[in-house]
Amino acid sequence: MIILGIETSCDETAISIVENGSKLLSNVIRSQVEIHAQYGGIVPEVASRAHVAAIIPALQQALNNANVKIEEVDKIAVTFGPGLAGSLLVGVNLAKTLAYIYKKPLLGINHIEAHIYSSWLEKDNFVPRFPLISMVASGGHTELILMREHGDYEILGQTKDDAAGEAFDKAARVLGLSYPGGPEIQKYASNELDVSDLIMPRPLLREGLDFSFSGLKTAFLNKSRSKSAEIGFDISQDTKIVSRLAWEFQEAITEVLATKIDRAIKFSGAKMAIVGGGVAANARLRERIENQVTQVPVVIPRPGLCIDNGAMIAACAYFKKYEHKIDLDVNPGLSIEDNPVIDYL
Ligand code: KG4
Ligand code: ZN
Repeated sequence: MIILGIETSCDETAISIVENGSKLLSNVIRSQVEIHAQYGGIVPEVASRAHVAAIIPALQQALNNANVKIEEVDKIAVTFGPGLAGSLLVGVNLAKTLAYIYKKPLLGINHIEAHIYSSWLEKDNFVPRFPLISMVASGGHTELILMREHGDYEILGQTKDDAAGEAFDKAARVLGLSYPGGPEIQKYASNELDVSDLIMPRPLLREGLDFSFSGLKTAFLNKSRSKSAEIGFDISQDTKIVSRLAWEFQEAITEVLATKIDRAIKFSGAKMAIVGGGVAANARLRERIENQVTQVPVVIPRPGLCIDNGAMIAACAYFKKYEHKIDLDVNPGLSIEDNPVIDYL
C-alpha cells in the first residue's frame, strides 16, 4: 500500500511517499524558516502564500524521488488540523484535487496524532506496546497523551499557556538568536561560564501532568535583562553569557518535560513511551529522557522525523480504515480526543 502524505499545517510544505506505513520512499520538506526569520516568528498570511508557491514543486519532487507515478499511489492523506487555517487549506485542497482527479481514497489526518506515528518510521517492524504514553512537544502543542490502542487517545496533561517550542522560540528572541529558537538555543547552550545566579524556575515540576511555561519565559526575560544591565552583553560581544543563559533555559524546560513523561508512565501504568514534535529533536532533552525514563522502552524518532514532515501523515493514515468525503474541510482546533475509536483497524 503506497500512501502520499501531505503536511502544511504550519511553516513546512512537506510531502512524502510511504509504503506499508513504515517504508520511507521519499520525504520532501520545503521549509519557510528563512522567510519567517525576518519577522521573528510565523506570519500566517505569509505562510499560506509560501505553501501555495511550494506545494506543486514539492509534490513533483516527492514523486520523482520515490520513482512513483501518482496513478500508483493507493491513498492520499493530508493534515486537516490542528494548525493555521490558511496553511491547512493549501494541503487539503491539493489532496482533494488529487483524490478527485485520480479517484483515490482521501484521508484527513490529525497533526498531533501523526507526530506519534513518526515512531513507526523510525524502526523496521516497530511494534507498539499498548497502553503507551506519548509526549508531543512542538511549536503549538505540549501534550501528554495516553494511547490505549490505535485511535484511542486520552489527554492526561497539556500546557496551560505557552507550548514548549513557543517558549524556546521566545527565549531565543530575548537572546537575539534567530527563528526557530529551539535549534539556536541548543547550538549556543553551554555551562562553560561559571555563574550561579541564573538558575531558572521549573514550573509545575512537582505537580501533576500539566505544563506551564509563561512564568519561565518571564523569569528568563527578567534575568537576561538584569544580567545584560549588570555587565552589558550582546550576542556579538559576549557569547559566553548568552550561552549560559541558553543553557539554563534548556535545563529548566528539558527537566520539566522529562520529569512529566516519567510521572505519566507511573500514573498510567504505560508499557512504552513515544516522544515526538519539533522539541523532541533537542539533544539535551533526548539525553535526559534516556537517563531519567528507564522503566519502559522509550522511542524518540531521529530529529528529521520529529519536526513536521509528510511521512508521519502517511504512516498514520496506514492504520485507518475510513476515508473522508470530497467536501473535507480544515479544522484548525482539532483535538486528538476527537478521533472516533470505531474508525480504526
Ligand atoms: O513539530 P514542529 O516542527 O512544528 C509544529 O508542529 O509546531 O515544531 C516546531 C518547534 C519550534 O518551536 C522549534 O523551535 C522547536 O520545535 N524545535 C526545537 C528544536 N528543533 C525544533 N526545540 C528545541 N530544540 C531543538 N533542537
Ligand atoms: Zn508539528
